[in-house]
Amino acid sequence: MSNQMNRPLRLGMVGGGTGAYIGNIHRIAARQDGAFQLVAGAFDANPQAGHAFAASQQIDPARSYDNYQAMVAAEVEREDGIEAVAICTPNFTHYPIAKAFIEAGIAVICEKPLTATLEEALALEQLVRDSGVFMGVTYTYSGYPMVHEARALVAAGKIGKVRALQVEYPLEWMATAIESEGNAQAAWRTDPKKNGRGGSIGDIGTHAYHLAGFVSGLKLQSLTADLATFVNGRQLDDHAHVMLRYEGGARGLLWSSQVALGCSNGLRLRVFGELASLSWFQEQPNELIYSPLNGRTEILKRGAEDLSEAAKVRTRTPPGHPEGYLEAFANLYAGFAEFIHAQKQGRAPSAIGQHIPTAYDGLKGVAFVDAVVDSAEAKDQPWLTPIAV
Ligand code: NAI
Repeated sequence: MSNQMNRPLRLGMVGGGTGAYIGNIHRIAARQDGAFQLVAGAFDANPQAGHAFAASQQIDPARSYDNYQAMVAAEVEREDGIEAVAICTPNFTHYPIAKAFIEAGIAVICEKPLTATLEEALALEQLVRDSGVFMGVTYTYSGYPMVHEARALVAAGKIGKVRALQVEYPLEWMATAIESEGNAQAAWRTDPKKNGRGGSIGDIGTHAYHLAGFVSGLKLQSLTADLATFVNGRQLDDHAHVMLRYEGGARGLLWSSQVALGCSNGLRLRVFGELASLSWFQEQPNELIYSPLNGRTEILKRGAEDLSEAAKVRTRTPPGHPEGYLEAFANLYAGFAEFIHAQKQGRAPSAIGQHIPTAYDGLKGVAFVDAVVDSAEAKDQPWLTPIAV
C-alpha cells in the first residue's frame, strides 16, 4: 500500500448514526489511511439523535446539522467546508441527498444501490457528468486486492475469451419476518417505497452483478429472471435467479438470496474462459483460484511478489496476515481520495485511484435491478415452458 502523500480531505456524513449499520464501516474505512477527516454530519433522521451521535464522535456542535439541507447550505459557505460527503442512508434518500451535494460542488461517496428508481439514477448520473463533480459508489467487493488480481488476469488474456460467469450472493439474516419484529435494517429493505423495486436483487444482487462485470470486463446485453418471496407477507423478493447474456456470447447465472440458511456472507464469483477459470469467495478473500487448461490448479495468494500492480497497491500487510472487509472498504476510500486529489491537481490518478466504482457503475446497477424485476413480472417468459412428463 503506497503512503498517502496528500492532506486529508474534509468529510461529512449523512446517516450512519447510533444503531445504523454501514456508517461505522465508512468511518473506519475513511480513517484507515488518514485520507479523510470526518468534520461534519447529519447523522440521523432524528436531529436530536444525530446531535448526540455527533458529540460522541467529537464533531464540532456547530457542524452537526438537523438535516442534509442545512448541512449543504452551511458547509458550502465555509472556507473549511467539507470536500466530500458519505451518504449512508436508506436507498430512497440517496437521490435527493446526492443531488443537493453535487449541485453545491461537493464530491459524493454514495451507498449502493445508487437510487431507488431508474429515473433517479439516470438523472443523477447525468448531473454528475454535466457537473464534473466526483461521485463514487461503494461497491465494497471491488476493493479487494484479489478481485483486482482477477480483473487484471482477465484483462491480460490469461483466461482467454470468457465463456461463462457464475456469481452468487446468498445471505441468511432475513430468513424470517424480522422486519415485523423491530429490525430497522430489514424494515426499510422490505418496503418498496424506501428500498426500490428489487428486494434481494437490489440489496445484494447489485453487488454480485457489479463484481461479475468488474472482473470480466463484459457488458450485459440481456437477462431473464425468476424472483421469489419465501417469507410470508414480505413485499419484495428475498430470493432471485437470473440468467445473463453478455456481449460476445458469454453466458451468466446470478443468484441472490436473503433466506439461504448457513450462508453468512457467501459472495462467490467463478469466471470460465477458453484457457482457464478463476474462482473467488469473499469469506476467503486473500485467495484466488486459477485453473488452467492443463489441470494444474493454483491458489494465488494476496501479498505474492508476482501479482499485478492493482493488487499490490491494495495490499496492506504481508501475506498470511488476513485482510478482509474493512481493508477492502478502506481501499475504496483510498481510491476515492486519490481520484479527488488528482482531479483538483489536474493529473491522472495513480493506481489506487483507478478502476474505482463511479456513478455510472451505480446507474448500471439500478438498470440491472429494473430489468430483473421487469423480466420477473413479464407474463411470457421463455423459460416458463411446461415439462410434458
Ligand atoms: P440503517 O437503517 O442501519 O441506517 C440508516 C441510517 O440513516 C440511520 O441512522 C437513519 O437514522 C439515517 N437516516 C435515514 N434518513 C436520513 C436522512 N434523511 N438524513 C439523515 N440520516 C438519515 O441502514 P444501513 O443498513 O446502514 O444501509 C444504509 C445504506 O447502505 C443502504 O443504501 C444500503 O443498501 C447500504 N449498504 C451497503 C453495504 C455495502 O456493502 N456497501 C452494506 C450495508 C448497507
